[in-house]
Amino acid sequence: MEKYVLVTGGAGYIGSHTVVSLVENGYTPVILDDFRNANRVVIDGLTKILGKKPIIIELDVCDQNGVKEIFESYKFEGIIHFAAYKAVGESVDEPLKYYQNNLMGLINILSNMIEFNVKNLVFSSSCTVYGEPKGIKEVTEETPKNFPNSPYGFTKWIGEQIIEDTFKANPSLNLMNLRYFNPVGAHKSSLIGEFPIGKPNNLMPYITQTAIGKQEELIVFGNDYPTIDGTCIRDYIHVVDLAYAHVKAIVFLAGKFGSFETINIGTGKGSSVLEIISAFESETGQKLKWKYGKRRSGDVTEIFANATKAKNILEWEAKLSIKDAVIDAWNWEKKLIEHNEK
Ligand code: UD1
Repeated sequence: MEKYVLVTGGAGYIGSHTVVSLVENGYTPVILDDFRNANRVVIDGLTKILGKKPIIIELDVCDQNGVKEIFESYKFEGIIHFAAYKAVGESVDEPLKYYQNNLMGLINILSNMIEFNVKNLVFSSSCTVYGEPKGIKEVTEETPKNFPNSPYGFTKWIGEQIIEDTFKANPSLNLMNLRYFNPVGAHKSSLIGEFPIGKPNNLMPYITQTAIGKQEELIVFGNDYPTIDGTCIRDYIHVVDLAYAHVKAIVFLAGKFGSFETINIGTGKGSSVLEIISAFESETGQKLKWKYGKRRSGDVTEIFANATKAKNILEWEAKLSIKDAVIDAWNWEKKLIEHNEK
């Protein structure tokens, strides 16, 4: 019998890698995506990796009648809810777009879960809910949340709260918030990866785009932070490792009768911006054009995961390194030229 898992935003960056991981582990993903922020090339890539075209339903996750029909058509083992806007800067300019899409999508999914008695949900949250951690920079799930500095961050903050409140009112559900740190890299095959729209905001695609000549040079945002080399520190997690964490989450939830958990998904190790640049240069042999610029408003100085809970509860830990991530990100960037030429 097929074990169907609904993957909203399944054609996106983390979603598409999770689709691969689900199939590798015996599940049948049902992708729900309206391709607003995803590229159709992903379907070709997924088809090549999987050896057959995955199930794709082209729909807005906020579409109430449409999503209801999907729940009528499939009996889902679980749901992984990725579909959301994710550009921090854009969310400051267009907060209502973010609150509407990110929160209504989640509410629509939860309502249908209750109506159709689907128990298991994994929600894409973010380490942004910790804000700037006071004191220790290695955060556990018990580290107090702080207000994030963008509407995007607030949609994750409130999303977690919506899930917790829904669990309190429906204690037979199995709900999990995964707090991702910084996803990087791409699938080894270079058949799927991230498609940044316009100028990338995130560090890794900016590095690879600079190396390939799409961007003039990388600006390192600030060199006067109180860190080892003055640049910010983050926990960069390979997207393939991150994807597998979702499969482990679905496996965990399947055996539960009422469960609510929040789990960090990171490597447990922080790297500075300069360390990432240096890893990129040494692993790929590319000389990167970069210079220091001003601090970017809203950036936290340093944060990395305490990943013990993921290991204990999900039996998951990151296997791939920064080296793997920079090589895979670079191979993907080179492959993107071919996709753009199509
Ligand atoms: C941001 C969000 C996070 C979100 C993630 C999505 C905040 C505070 N953070 O993470 O919630 O989940 O994006 O991917 O809202 N950098 C440069 N030059 C650049 C780009 C980045 O120096 O051109 C530096 C940044 O200052 C930062 C690091 O690289 O220190 C990582 O930045 P980025 O990739 O944008 O991720 P975050 O800001 O950590």
